[in-house]
Amino acid sequence: MLEFDRATKQFARVAALDDCSFVAKSGRLTGFLGPNGAGKTTAMRAVFGLVELDAGAVRWNDAPIATAERARFGYMPEERGLYPRMRVRDQLLYLGRLCGRGRVDVNRSVNTWLEQLGLAERASDRLDALSHGNQQRVQLIAALINEPDLLVLDEPFSGLDPLAIASMAELLATVAQAGATVLFSSHQLDLVEDLCEDVVIIDHGRVVLAGELEALRAAVPDRFVDIHTRGPAPDWSSLSSARVVACHDGHTRLRVDRATDLGQVIGLARHTADLVSFAYQPPTLSELFRDAVAS
Ligand SMILES: Nc1ncnc2c1ncn2[C@@H]1O[C@H](COP(=O)(O)OP(=O)(O)OP(=O)(O)O)[C@@H](O)[C@H]1O
Ligand SMILES: [Mg+2]
Repeated sequence: MLEFDRATKQFARVAALDDCSFVAKSGRLTGFLGPNGAGKTTAMRAVFGLVELDAGAVRWNDAPIATAERARFGYMPEERGLYPRMRVRDQLLYLGRLCGRGRVDVNRSVNTWLEQLGLAERASDRLDALSHGNQQRVQLIAALINEPDLLVLDEPFSGLDPLAIASMAELLATVAQAGATVLFSSHQLDLVEDLCEDVVIIDHGRVVLAGELEALRAAVPDRFVDIHTRGPAPDWSSLSSARVVACHDGHTRLRVDRATDLGQVIGLARHTADLVSFAYQPPTLSELFRDAVAS
């Protein structure tokens, strides 16, 4: 388990981390979210000693983190840090050997990862000859090369095409299932919603929401109603406890409180239009995020 305990870091007048406390659990994927400048990268860098905290601590399994622990961690930094002119396989072998693993062993896992991520044919190319997405895959292999117990990835999905996103997501889920702690930052909230059991949302260096995603969604007092109608648009203004969140082409999303009479909502829809479908749901992660960051 990775734990941030009241981590605090000030850069000039900016509080990048401000009493920031949260955990990322073993065997789970934790989505680390927050607006630009919220402090995500700073927090991740602190795990690797690349940012020195002013106060508070980051712990791994209840103990302070030192070089020995970091040897069991993998990191995909925001500014990708490989050698552009070095050939893909050569640099992965080099990085694997730096972790202290034997040549045969490193060779085997490099080949397995290259194969799994569809890069085997590019193994002899220089890194800078690869597309952005393929360079990102090489970065991921570099972070996985020591078979880490903790994997920290700073926006691993940025700039990837939908197929690459799906294979990266599947791989991270597999790594977590095998027992590793996986913490990654992302602005792609739909993806995080599909992928993660746990989320941490920070803003101005402080945690504004954290925990199991389903529990966080269920705890919001409001509910959301998705209504699809055909015909003239219903007049929602007569529902005092509902707010129209979105409305286009007969699809309406209403935010309602739990006391709202759903029969009345349906009756209103049917008054002017045909009701095609109706769903009553907790908020999406995007809605949780907006609420948490706005407050
Ligand atoms: N080395 C530094 N020197 C000065 N200020 C810094 C430094 N690193 C980060 N900051 C500031 O700390 C704040 C948090 O930055 P950080 O990069 O951690 O945010 P982030 O959540 O990763 O944002 P993004 O989503 O844009 O990547 C920002 O205001 C940033 O400008
Ligand atoms: Mg960042």
